Amino acid sequence: MSRVKVIAGNWKMNKTPSEAAEFLSELRESVKDIKNDIIAAVPFVCIPAAVQAVSGSNIKIAAQNMHWKDKGAYTGEISGGMLKDLGIEYVIIGHSERREYFAETDETVNLKAHAAFEYGITPIICVGESLSQRDAGITAEHIRIQVKGALVGLSAEQVSSLIIAYEPIWAIGTGRTATPEQAEEVCSLIRETVRELYSEAVSEAVRIQYGGSVTAETSSVLFSMPDIDGGLVGGASLKVKDFTIIAGYKK
Ligand code: PGA
Repeated sequence: MSRVKVIAGNWKMNKTPSEAAEFLSELRESVKDIKNDIIAAVPFVCIPAAVQAVSGSNIKIAAQNMHWKDKGAYTGEISGGMLKDLGIEYVIIGHSERREYFAETDETVNLKAHAAFEYGITPIICVGESLSQRDAGITAEHIRIQVKGALVGLSAEQVSSLIIAYEPIWAIGTGRTATPEQAEEVCSLIRETVRELYSEAVSEAVRIQYGGSVTAETSSVLFSMPDIDGGLVGGASLKVKDFTIIAGYKK
């Protein structure tokens, strides 16, 4: 089993296109010797500048969302075809902020995952429980439902290539990182769910990230857990120094 670690920065609604270009020019120098997969998920309007700024480097650019239709009367939406045309290789789907504030459901997450693959874009599918779900003891059940819902109809090959990000909602932006044991427990459950739905081989291939207040101090012990293949990093991805330390994880 040799999954390459994948560290993605989720910039959320931060940085203008000029700030993105400047930041990424600095970051590409800083991470150039790192062998892990490195992704920056930038706001839509930053994509052209970001793609240009990382050209020829080891950083890939992701979008933070997409619509599942090719085109049409969906004011304010962005399609997979538009993203592909700009050079996008990854897309975050079903982030808890989108589920909470923009009414995304397991069904729309699944539609978006299918649409991403149609354009050759790799989805980073987010799942995670709220604090009340954790306190009620229904974390495992909730995660299984989200994972199953997201993967409906995807092929074994597709699931082997995608990324699932486990992000407990209570850990996002709160400074309250899950303990490595808490994160490992759920990431291992996600892998087991993929094994049940597909096969041992698919579950060993799929990469599972942890996200939620990952910092330069907490990342290495989290990423050393057997079922955690890297991280989805919010706040700490906005600082070159911190993100470089996090992305540079070595065993
Ligand atoms: P955070 O965000 O690292 O700032 O907690 C993570 C995320 O929402 O992807």
